[in-house]
Amino acid sequence: MARILITSALPYINGIKHLGNLAGSMLPADVYARFKRLQGHEVLYICATDEHGTPAELAAQKDGVPVQAYCDEQHEIQRAAGEGFTLSYDHFGRSSSAQNAALTQHFAHVLEERGLLEERTEKQVYSIDDGRFLPDRYVEGTCPHCDFEKARGDQCDNCGRLLDPVELKNPYSAVSGSTNIEIRDTTHLYLLQSKMQDDIREWVEASTEWPQLAKSIALKWLDEGLQDRAITRDLSWGIPVAYEGKVREGFEDKVFYVWFDAPIEYIGATQEYSEKLGKPEEWERWWRTDKGADDVTYVQFMGKDNVAFHTVSFPVTMIGSREPWKLVDRLKAFNWVTWYGGKFSTSMNRGVFMDQALELLPVDYWRWYLMANAPEGSDAAFTWEGFQAAVNSDLANVLGNFVNRITKYCKSKFDGQLPAAGTPGEDEAWMEAELKTRLKTLMQHYEEMEFRKAAAETRAIWAAGNEYLTRAEPWVKYKNDVDAAAVGVRTGLNLVALFGILAQPFIPTAAAKILDALGIPEENRKMPNPDDDNLLDALPHGMKISPPDVLFSKIEDAQVAEWTKRFGGGQ
Ligand code: MF3
Ligand code: ZN
Repeated sequence: MARILITSALPYINGIKHLGNLAGSMLPADVYARFKRLQGHEVLYICATDEHGTPAELAAQKDGVPVQAYCDEQHEIQRAAGEGFTLSYDHFGRSSSAQNAALTQHFAHVLEERGLLEERTEKQVYSIDDGRFLPDRYVEGTCPHCDFEKARGDQCDNCGRLLDPVELKNPYSAVSGSTNIEIRDTTHLYLLQSKMQDDIREWVEASTEWPQLAKSIALKWLDEGLQDRAITRDLSWGIPVAYEGKVREGFEDKVFYVWFDAPIEYIGATQEYSEKLGKPEEWERWWRTDKGADDVTYVQFMGKDNVAFHTVSFPVTMIGSREPWKLVDRLKAFNWVTWYGGKFSTSMNRGVFMDQALELLPVDYWRWYLMANAPEGSDAAFTWEGFQAAVNSDLANVLGNFVNRITKYCKSKFDGQLPAAGTPGEDEAWMEAELKTRLKTLMQHYEEMEFRKAAAETRAIWAAGNEYLTRAEPWVKYKNDVDAAAVGVRTGLNLVALFGILAQPFIPTAAAKILDALGIPEENRKMPNPDDDNLLDALPHGMKISPPDVLFSKIEDAQVAEWTKRFGGGQ
């Protein structure tokens, strides 16, 4: 049994996430966590809301509520949305926790002791009318690279480049809109990433288990040379620049930068979890290599825009501390899910957000489509037509019909009992051979975290089951040879159980419905071993089964038309 630590990038606190955000971090992490648990491994899946920084402050200001209250409310909304999507977090924490504050301050303190922090005075945008500095998103203006007129101080949404607020042309305050702006001196703590260049490169090059996308992004940053970065900001909402309760002189009105404290919350949230468990030292088994974490495999999930922070900045913090922290072993990055090739946008009514999705259809419909079309090789477009086709064909026709047909037939002809009679023949041999090859392929895709391929292979296994029924035809055989029909029904029911088991990571709710209908006990729901030769006759003869209620209903064209109007679509 292995120990696997899984984290998905922490969603920003402001606003419920859209399906693209979900599909590029939390959902695949959940699928992987479920798969690993079903293999019998010890899994810890951690996530949290990313609560600091200017986005939170600005959103709270817009709503006219204090930031803390805003975050409390938004955290609860996101926690509930995660629950609705059956995301199986072991803990869903908050980067504003006391644990994260203490850890963040600890890291800053050791980094300073190691000579990796230094105070520097720099130029910052200051708004005279607002009476404050305007860090990051507090200032907007024209992008110096592409001339986009609504670039934010920290990043241009048009060309994607990271910016320094003072670079913006025609800057204005995002708070008041005021253009009465000047550049003033301010002092910040800088993390001397340039000093860590060799250590980070050595570590990245030794990380053989990173997928290509992650590695190439990391190497690109290293090739450009690591820049020293300010890790404090002129803001009031955030973690105080203090150590053991004592605020750093001159930093009374400053806090740590959100990107410094957010990844540390992976550890912070694990501490929150430990305390909730009543085992305050539990987190060390996952994070301290001197306390057992050396045999943990740590896997991170994130969108591609987060890769640099996870392969370079956060490792600078961890490795730079020269303390025995557990570093990421495998990093899975995703491209974007687009809305018909464009951006999701609340204001333009384009796209579906997590809470809205669940008002339309059951969770598994979304989970299945998003993972079967995971943005792995490239961006992937959400379309209503693709969604409808995936649900109607894969779930309703291929899986749902199979389960229905065979369980109903067993009920009507065999009294709902798994028949014992008859000997398997050619068709069963075909099915078994098919399963062995396909199951191995499926397991391999999971190991490689290729979710789109894993979904395709799962669907191919369901389709092979249908093919088997077409060959075996128990309903035809029944007329002349009840025992031959019994073999088909027995094999079919074993396939139903197997399909339910295999479906669990992707569509856990429907899978549970199938497995419950068959009365499969919890301990027998683990992932099968492809070399197990008893795949098709594992269920006890004579066991009682009952057909599940309708598993999936088809999406009608009229629904697609209505949702296209409401959430946007092709035109
Ligand atoms: N909130 C960031 C985003 O949505 C991700 C933070 S990941 C972590 O892009 F490293 F900070 F945890
Ligand atoms: Zn730009």
